[in-house]
Amino acid sequence: MRVLIVGTHSQEIATAIALAVERGAALRHVPGPEAALEELRAGRGAELVLIDVASDIARLIRSLAAERICVPVVAYGVRTDARAAVAAVRAGAREFLPLPPDPELIAAILASVGDDRRALVFEDPAMHEVLAMARQIAPSEASVMITGESGTGKEMLARYVHRHSRRAERGFVSVNCAAIPENLLESELFGHEKGAFTGATARRIGKFEEASGGTLLLDEVSEMDPRLQAKLLRALQEREIDRVGGQRPIKVDLRLLATSNRELEAEVAAGRFREDLLFRLNVVNLHLPPLRERPADLRPLCEHFAAKYAQANGLPPRPVSEAALARLRQQPWKGNVRELENCVHRAVLMASGDAIGPEAILLQGSAATRPRAAAGGAPLVGRTVADVERALIIDTLQHTLGNRTHAATILGISIRTLRNKLRQYGDEGVAVPPPGAGGAEAVIARA
Ligand SMILES: Nc1ncnc2c1ncn2[C@@H]1O[C@H](COP(=O)(O)OP(=O)(O)OP(=O)(O)O)[C@@H](O)[C@H]1O
Ligand SMILES: [Mg+2]
Repeated sequence: MRVLIVGTHSQEIATAIALAVERGAALRHVPGPEAALEELRAGRGAELVLIDVASDIARLIRSLAAERICVPVVAYGVRTDARAAVAAVRAGAREFLPLPPDPELIAAILASVGDDRRALVFEDPAMHEVLAMARQIAPSEASVMITGESGTGKEMLARYVHRHSRRAERGFVSVNCAAIPENLLESELFGHEKGAFTGATARRIGKFEEASGGTLLLDEVSEMDPRLQAKLLRALQEREIDRVGGQRPIKVDLRLLATSNRELEAEVAAGRFREDLLFRLNVVNLHLPPLRERPADLRPLCEHFAAKYAQANGLPPRPVSEAALARLRQQPWKGNVRELENCVHRAVLMASGDAIGPEAILLQGSAATRPRAAAGGAPLVGRTVADVERALIIDTLQHTLGNRTHAATILGISIRTLRNKLRQYGDEGVAVPPPGAGGAEAVIARA
């Protein structure tokens, strides 16, 4: 994951950088918002911008919006900056990272924004087959369409193909076509010239040019609108692109990978996806089976996630018990590996004793995760949603000994949402469990 740090150097930010690098982030540092904009325009993209809370964050966010540059911004500052933190979030920052940094919080923020290139875990014969094919076609220049249900690991497989390709030493650039608003996607892909639209104050290099020499992943390509599909087809056929408002085409040299969780033939039949584009993208198709069709993967994936989240949260490593595994085997896993990963993450936080037992496995929608159990066993009918929610949040926080990060993960909400709720409860006079030992967390609670 590439992170752009904006602000003057300090000891605190240096420590934060070291922690982020330890967790696999690649960092660049610029002194101020103007330099940050220049970096982003120049095609040296980032998955996250970390900016000093003392900077003019509102202005940077306005410029990014006006110039159609889509990147999440997180503010950082020293712990006395509670008021500035609120202002930063109001200005459009996603989160506030208090310094000196809490390693756990940095991990949570990095995880909430992006994904690094972690190892693919698999044992099932069905996966061996897919991976063998991936390795076989990786060295070619052929476009690859990766399909599979949501959460099956399509993006991970795309990175795997890149790592085994002849372009492995060059860049891997990914664009999520579903996450970027339609009107911004063209600039994101092809870039634009100064004056191309109101707000285009400078030339901006798009992802096609940024990825040139390496690999470009068009994630969820089926979500692209037909007009842009036509431009994409041209780029693939001619190996050149037009910046928005540009005068002449620009040559690009890249390997294209794409993913989709839709049935693309059906999308073509329905007139939503161009058939000629599908032929171009689908030179090779790698299909990831859903988790329920690769039972032998369940155990190694659980063990992998259990170890990973124990380490990330500074908890002792605990083996997954046979009883817990038996419980997990009964699940349909509609959200596939992602759902399993979240479930094991929660189990790691809930577990006590020598092993992760079945009682730590909270399945979405099961009795254990319903507010009834958390809210002191009181019947639900007759209570307001706000009342039950408050009881659930407070109970969870008690369980995590006041640890906000853990509680937010268990509850499935962002740290910011949790923080806002707690502030509201505090204002209403509700006794909120105090934060754990981490000083940084105290700021989150106050901010
Ligand atoms: N084989 C695997 N080994 C380890 N982790 C995996 C594996 N497959 C998926 N994951 C994890 O599951 C999550 C989902 O993976 P990924 O984003 O690649 O799936 P996806 O198919 O692109 O999902 P979506 O359709 O929702 O975009 C990630 O957090 C990833 O770390
Ligand atoms: Mg994906």
